[in-house]
Amino acid sequence: MERRDFLKLAGAAGLASLAPPVLAETIAARTIPGTSERLPVIGLGNSNAFRRGDVEASMAVIERLMQFGGRYIDCGGDARFVAAEAASRLEFDNVLLGAYFDLSSPDVVRDEVARLAGEDGSMTLMNCFTDQVNEHWDVMRGFKEDGLTKFIGTARHTSEYYDTMIGLMKTGTLDVLQVNYSMLEPEAAERVLPTALDEGVAVMINRPFINGRYFGVVSGKALPEWASEFDCESWAQFSLKFILSHPAVSCVLTETENPKHAIDNLRAGLGRLPDEKTRQRMREHLLSLA
Ligand SMILES: NC(=O)c1ccc[n+]([C@@H]2O[C@H](COP(=O)([O-])OP(=O)(O)OC[C@H]3O[C@@H](n4cnc5c(N)ncnc54)[C@H](OP(=O)(O)O)[C@@H]3O)[C@@H](O)[C@H]2O)c1
Repeated sequence: MERRDFLKLAGAAGLASLAPPVLAETIAARTIPGTSERLPVIGLGNSNAFRRGDVEASMAVIERLMQFGGRYIDCGGDARFVAAEAASRLEFDNVLLGAYFDLSSPDVVRDEVARLAGEDGSMTLMNCFTDQVNEHWDVMRGFKEDGLTKFIGTARHTSEYYDTMIGLMKTGTLDVLQVNYSMLEPEAAERVLPTALDEGVAVMINRPFINGRYFGVVSGKALPEWASEFDCESWAQFSLKFILSHPAVSCVLTETENPKHAIDNLRAGLGRLPDEKTRQRMREHLLSLA
């Protein structure tokens, strides 16, 4: 019997939850400033499994997230509905779903939220691409006031948007900023991340592996022995632990369709993080390989 058929039968028969057990050791979480909401430090990005519409493969990576006590899934387009269905089949009732909408059609957005919303009828995080905030930010604020979403955020991954992001943070209306940051793309640390700290805005980091290009730099190279001093077991964790040790960062989004990679990434949320001196050493070491 297919797992999906079993889940349906189990639901109909009122059997005990099939949700995977949470491991004894769960990843760290940080509070979204100004709220009591706890955001686990490793989130899932918009996986190819979601984009392909492959619910079974999506369940496999989401299951790993749940086992490690993770909660956040970032997704857009039709992938939103695939990720939401996979989470629902896993009876993942604690999920924090962050999604993007075409804000030029508010009625369509309301219909889509109705398909995606949790038990209280609202989205967790409604995202607006930063190039659209001038046009659509008032609409986003209206959706939040109407209870359609708990949080509103903006997201992009290139420095041309940093001035707009900084301006929006200073309005006091932005709950969550999503921006690129890593050892090979460090520019957000100059002005964007300090502003987020000053203004009390939660920060999610995208492109921790520069969409895979990072692995081209480290492939075939030995992880330095001193990485064990901050409980780092792999090159993926080397990047993720660097990002998570920045004080402005709430959470980092990792994209994968491979459950083993998901476990590797989630384990970066366990154990120690590097201090400032070690961060400098990490950056120098990586640049020497690049
Ligand atoms: N709003 C925006 O403007 C924006 C822009 C960029 C990104 N984002 C968000 O940020 C997320 C992450 O950024 P990204 O798309 O640049 O992806 P990324 O997480 O930087 O890199 C993903 C790539 O790394 C590989 N990978 C992941 N974990 C691995 C591991 N442990 N070992 C080896 N390879 C691994 C993946 O391949 P496998 O599938 O084979 O693991 C994939 O090729 C996106 O999914 C999206 O949600 C948002």
